[in-house]
Amino acid sequence: MARIEKVIARRVWDSRGRPTVEVEIGTSSGAWARGIAPAGASRGSAEAIDLRDGGGRFGGMDIQQALRGIREEITPRLLGFDVSDQEGIDAALIELDGSPNKARLGGNATIATSLAALQAAAASHQMPLWRYLAGDTSVCLPIPQIQIFGGGAHAGRRVDIQDFMVIATGAKSFQQALEMTAEVYAAAGKLMGSRSGLMGVADEGGWWPNFSSNEEALDVLVQAIEAAGYAPGKEIAIALDIAASEFGREGSYRLALDDRTMGSQSWTEVLLGWLDKYPIVSIEDPLAEDDEAGLIEFTRSAGKNVQIVGDDYLVTNAARVEHAADVGACNAVLIKPNQAGTVTETRAALLAAQARGFATIVSARSGETEDTAIVHLATGWNAGQLKVGSFARSERMAKWNEAIRLEDSGLVSGGFIGRAALAGSR
Ligand code: PGA
Ligand code: ZN
Repeated sequence: MARIEKVIARRVWDSRGRPTVEVEIGTSSGAWARGIAPAGASRGSAEAIDLRDGGGRFGGMDIQQALRGIREEITPRLLGFDVSDQEGIDAALIELDGSPNKARLGGNATIATSLAALQAAAASHQMPLWRYLAGDTSVCLPIPQIQIFGGGAHAGRRVDIQDFMVIATGAKSFQQALEMTAEVYAAAGKLMGSRSGLMGVADEGGWWPNFSSNEEALDVLVQAIEAAGYAPGKEIAIALDIAASEFGREGSYRLALDDRTMGSQSWTEVLLGWLDKYPIVSIEDPLAEDDEAGLIEFTRSAGKNVQIVGDDYLVTNAARVEHAADVGACNAVLIKPNQAGTVTETRAALLAAQARGFATIVSARSGETEDTAIVHLATGWNAGQLKVGSFARSERMAKWNEAIRLEDSGLVSGGFIGRAALAGSR
């Protein structure tokens, strides 16, 4: 048995140039491994809390308090733990924190520690993480959702919708899905350049959304798929993250770009119109986190055909997923480890979803690093889908490239899952 002998907490920097927490764990087996906390910008209100120092330094985003908690409270508690006892380690983190949402020690502190322990356990078993997680079960490589235009909170709210993504539904391998997406990403860049001049990229690497309406972005996305030589809807389909909690509250939705304010029902009609007009196979947070009635209605109208993903609404929480399944809201869940704050709670949300027939998508955050753990979680837990942002910037490409390595190893016996992973019949 490998025991935790050393825990090191340090500040590193994320893809937005902001401080974040890294934890490194050393074990009696000689294995060392680390985990790094990512950070969201359009967060659900029930997520685990990122502990930030406030004050003037680095826009108040420093994480010295979180590091202190790891050094003074978490480390003494974890020393001597069996590093493979993930549930025990995570239970200790939850108990130490003592708050309902990791507000005291910080979800950034607990997830970095939890992921470091998981990686150290896999290293102690001399296994790649995905394999350690999969055990003897046959698992598949996920199908990727890849952003072409960024928007919402990731692009200064230039457009209201947050993620305009593609899913290479015609791909037969992960490698091929990336090849197809690379062509669409390049074609979209060319189109943007010829329309209005390129204006760089948004937080997750998608092209800056220089559009005069939200719908125009959808039109250009379809054009980009065609310009890349693919049939929209047949070979490459569209996935959206509306992130409606960013512009909807108490049943009122304010689209700044389109200069319209609508009730839940009218907004739903707009979305259903888009589903009719465009080859959309997946739609995330179509209504705000506080609009459960709207989500139920939307799922009733569109959930047979289209994947409806809960992110802000479900916040990687098993009880919330079970409740959503009971009331008929959504048919898929986004799985973000730092929304839960520990690996064990993340896994519980994923298992609850799989047990209820929900599709599952392991996801990065808009603030990311070189950490590729989520690719292994998506594969080892057989999540079926992976969302990492766009096809540019190395905090994103590190994840796509890691998935290529897993595929190339030939050891993922289930192969590439393809479009079968999506909820909905489209
Ligand atoms: P975030 O957004 O990482 O900025 O919170 C990502 C998402 O909404 O899926
Ligand atoms: Zn989202």
